[in-house]
Amino acid sequence: MHFRKICLLIAPLLSCTSIRAYVWPSPYDFLEDAYTVSSGFADGGIVDGVNPCSFEPIGGRLAGRQAAAEWLRLAYHDSATYNIETGLGGLDASIGFETNRPQNIGRSMNDSLVFFAAFQSKTSSMADVMALGVILAIKNCGGPSIPFRAGRIDAESGGPETVPEPQQDLESHTSAFALQGFNVTEMIGLVACGHTIGGVHQVDFPLSVEGAITSSNPDGVVHFDSTFDSFDNRIATQWIDGTSVDPLAVGFNETTNSDARIFAADGNRTMQAFAQDPDFFSAQCGSLLERMLNTVPKTVQLSEVIEPLPVKPFELFASLASNGSLVLSGYVRIFGTSAAAAAASPANMPVTLNWKDRNGRTNASYSTSAVAVSQTSGSLWGSVHFFQVSAAIDASLGISSFVVDWAYDNSGTLTHSDNGGAGFPFQDVALHQPDKSCRGDDLTTTIYAVIRNDMGPVTDAYVEYTSNVNHVGSISVKQVTIRAPLAHVGNSTSLLYDTYNATFPTYPDGTQTDEGRITFDVVAVIGGETYVSLSNPEVFALC
Ligand code: HEM
Ligand SMILES: *[C@@H]1O[C@H](CO)[C@@H](O)[C@H](O)[C@H]1NC(C)=O
Ligand SMILES: *[C@@H]1O[C@H](CO)[C@@H](O)[C@H](O)[C@H]1NC(C)=O
Ligand SMILES: *[C@@H]1O[C@H](CO)[C@@H](O)[C@H](O)[C@H]1NC(C)=O
Ligand SMILES: *[C@@H]1O[C@H](CO)[C@@H](O)[C@H](O)[C@H]1NC(C)=O
Ligand SMILES: *[C@@H]1O[C@H](CO)[C@@H](O)[C@H](O)[C@H]1NC(C)=O
Ligand SMILES: *[C@@H]1O[C@H](CO)[C@@H](O)[C@H](O)[C@H]1NC(C)=O
Ligand SMILES: *[C@@H]1O[C@H](CO)[C@@H](O)[C@H](O)[C@H]1NC(C)=O
Ligand SMILES: *[C@@H]1O[C@H](CO)[C@@H](O)[C@H](O)[C@H]1NC(C)=O
Repeated sequence: MHFRKICLLIAPLLSCTSIRAYVWPSPYDFLEDAYTVSSGFADGGIVDGVNPCSFEPIGGRLAGRQAAAEWLRLAYHDSATYNIETGLGGLDASIGFETNRPQNIGRSMNDSLVFFAAFQSKTSSMADVMALGVILAIKNCGGPSIPFRAGRIDAESGGPETVPEPQQDLESHTSAFALQGFNVTEMIGLVACGHTIGGVHQVDFPLSVEGAITSSNPDGVVHFDSTFDSFDNRIATQWIDGTSVDPLAVGFNETTNSDARIFAADGNRTMQAFAQDPDFFSAQCGSLLERMLNTVPKTVQLSEVIEPLPVKPFELFASLASNGSLVLSGYVRIFGTSAAAAAASPANMPVTLNWKDRNGRTNASYSTSAVAVSQTSGSLWGSVHFFQVSAAIDASLGISSFVVDWAYDNSGTLTHSDNGGAGFPFQDVALHQPDKSCRGDDLTTTIYAVIRNDMGPVTDAYVEYTSNVNHVGSISVKQVTIRAPLAHVGNSTSLLYDTYNATFPTYPDGTQTDEGRITFDVVAVIGGETYVSLSNPEVFALC
């Protein structure tokens, strides 16, 4: 990611403040899109798995279960392998290798991991997707807005068996939480924040729950509080006013009433405060869960907080048309939290892309209007609108960057969005040609590209192709990136570009899997400079 550093020379101190300036393109664009867009056009897809908050897993087919709660439990159990003394463990997707342990009993862990695996890619680890999933699920259940950072790295094996179990005593729980970096107050908070949604499944905990299995509740789920589908302080109000239904607090089996021991561990002070003030509960849960999700091995460096970019390209690519023109096509997204953003009617929003040619020059003719897409989009964090871009660009002039001038209504002054100053960079040197790329029935993929021929010899050209293989021992996947050389094919529809192609196996290595996202970069090296068309989407057309 590119962050500007602002350095001020204040004698005798050289002070550098890293200011948050996520600029496009970033390795986290896919995660930022998935964070920002939760329904409609360009839906990131994660929230669909937990909407509404009571939504059952596997597309709503598993009666009585709750995907949002399963995701949160998954993330807690994954992070609970952290050891503050060694700095190892934490949210690293090691849970994938730990699902057969009694501590992690139930089908839910693998069911959640399979859902998340669809979002794994070169730029989105399982652990990042899991963190993002929990943040989106909690927000969608009415809980706090938890800041999202990316950069987690998936483990290659399981961690220590340190997930707390309900039959353990308070002392074990206190020391388990201490090992993960949380004191008693924080332990009470985390457990209350976790146990405000979902419940206990009789099929997995018959020593804690009985008589709950019915045809509409085949797993025999007993909820922790009377608002299992709302991330609210009910778990605390019911505990304090003596109406708790929590099977781990007032269950028939004293031994497994760990919530009762934990909630009362400070004489009920924390639970009292939660019960009295829903905003305090929400804020505490926000910061505790943020810490839990950001508990990562000490070697992992998390990114700055990722928030929706106000203006951002989406699947915006250039290719050569049959008449030799460059065609820029894709979308631009506009996000805002203001009343004007919410009230805007996209069809009435002027949105113009103004580009610079390859020599960095502007011209009134280097401009195109983007048109509102007919399907609307939704975001948990504000209002988001998409506009389609389709512009022919004279290949001899080319494009090097663009800015977006736009407004929420056509009477307003235009906002000039320049991606943090330098414009949205856009290279016209190495371009994918999607109309020619195709997949053979023999599981090979052929990528066609065009590369400019007027800049000197092309010293290297290749496709960097990332697919997914089974992460043996876990139901998640891992990424394999291969480099396939682009061979010179011949001319193109433009005198300024030559055609290249690369053919390689669609599943290059390891066990074949359709889980995860496939993306590829098209790369050309000319005169020592590297030109990359990033993150092109998987090719499905048959040859
Ligand atoms: C001493 C600590 C803890 C113990 C002993 C404990 C124990 C349990 C047990 C036995 C269940 C029932 C699981 C099932 O039936 O599938 C459960 C569910 C759950 N736990 Fe915990 N838990 C603890 C802490 C936490 C924490 C810190 C969180 C998250 C911050 C959390 C989140 C959840 C969630 C969301 C569920 C509901 C899962 C569902 O409905 O499928 N737990 N917990
Ligand atoms: C736990 O730490 C928090 C600050 O992070 C502090 O406010 C609280 O008093 C501590 N609780 C205990 C029991 O030490
Ligand atoms: C309560 O749970 C403990 C530990 O899981 C178990 O050993 C015991 O048999 C249970 N008691 C009852 C009454 O089910
Ligand atoms: C804590 O609250 C519970 C449930 O309301 C109650 O039974 C218990 O006596 C309280 N404990 C203390 C130490 O106040
Ligand atoms: C803008 O482009 C037009 C057409 O290519 C050209 O005639 C004109 O000179 C350019 N204007 C500037 C200021 O470069
Ligand atoms: C070339 O083709 C593109 C895409 O079909 C079209 O938009 C553009 O107007 C054409 N340019 C010329 C000069 O005909
Ligand atoms: C989860 O999936 C993994 C990998 O397929 C498998 O080894 C494991 O047994 C599964 N766990 C459960 C509880 O089904
Ligand atoms: C790639 O280009 C070569 C010519 O260089 C051609 O023989 C081959 O058929 C092309 N591959 C595909 C799958 O189109
Ligand atoms: C490319 O070259 C072939 C043969 O060399 C020629 O037939 C074709 O017209 C050329 N295409 C273009 C667009 O120049």
